[in-house]
Amino acid sequence: MADVDWDALTAHAVEAMHHAYAPYSHFAVGVAGFVDDGRVVSGCNVENAGYGVTLCAECGMVSELVRGGGGLLTAVACVNARSEPLMPCGRCRQLLWEHGGPNCLLLTPQGVLPMSEVLPQAFGPHDLTHVTGSAGGQDVST
Ligand code: THU
Repeated sequence: MADVDWDALTAHAVEAMHHAYAPYSHFAVGVAGFVDDGRVVSGCNVENAGYGVTLCAECGMVSELVRGGGGLLTAVACVNARSEPLMPCGRCRQLLWEHGGPNCLLLTPQGVLPMSEVLPQAFGPHDLTHVTGSAGGQDVST
């Protein structure tokens, strides 16, 4: 995936960021991802008066991914309100791992990194398969 159009992906993330519902933190986040079938999915954060109920932008993006037929994320860009690359929180790195696997590329403040470096020694479907024989998730191991 050396030919990822990061400018276009970032533009999708910025567009999504402008839809953020962040009246409590005032910290708008947008994220966009390329899917292995060519789709683009995106999301913004949606906060709640019950602070812990807040949905990160990545949650919305993954919901759109699954709702739209699933598939594997190949590249993801997450941005803050300044349109700068933002590192996904720990929980969202886990979401990206499930739906992108180790080779999904992420635009970070330190450049483009594979998820295998963003979430080293990740827990994933293979850990379940290893013990139970069936995980149920998609194969993201390659
Ligand atoms: N946020 C995200 O949407 N994604 C992340 O990966 C980091 C944090 C949101 C959640 C909350 O609405 C705001 O940023 C401040 O934490």
